Amino acid sequence: MWVALRPQPHVGGLGYWIIPPARGLGLATAAVRLVLPWALNALNLRRLEAWVEPDNVGSQRVLRGAGFQQEGRLRNFITVEDRSSDALVFSVIPPKL
Ligand SMILES: CC(C)(COP(=O)(O)OP(=O)(O)OC[C@H]1O[C@@H](n2cnc3c(N)ncnc32)[C@H](O)[C@@H]1OP(=O)(O)O)[C@@H](O)C(=O)NCCC(=O)NCCS
Repeated sequence: MWVALRPQPHVGGLGYWIIPPARGLGLATAAVRLVLPWALNALNLRRLEAWVEPDNVGSQRVLRGAGFQQEGRLRNFITVEDRSSDALVFSVIPPKL
């Protein structure tokens, strides 16, 4: 799991990968829930976002389960080996005080 700092100030991008034998055990959801407050507080982020391919249902469930909201869809945003795919955009922002 990693948090990349986007070019925009106070914006981070979340990524994760679980080794195949450990999938389906709730680990990704638990890890995202743990990392989320750390990323917002320690990294002083005002937005943590994730980009997910539309057919990656498992990853979308991970994000929704950790409190992310889907915002929209970026067309032809992800390119892997010359193949373009749309990306669904999810994000969390800190609660307003
Ligand atoms: C996507 C990935 C991170 C999920 O990790 P995981 O530890 O298996 O996820 P969890 O066990 O926390 O599952 C969370 C939810 O997604 C569901 N889910 C997991 N994999 C799924 C799949 N392949 N298809 C449908 N649902 C799936 C689980 O049933 C669970 O559902 P719930 O919310 O009803 O409980 C893992 O499959 C992975 O590493 N994939 C390859 C890398 C990747 O896609 N990274 C994300 C890029 S955006």
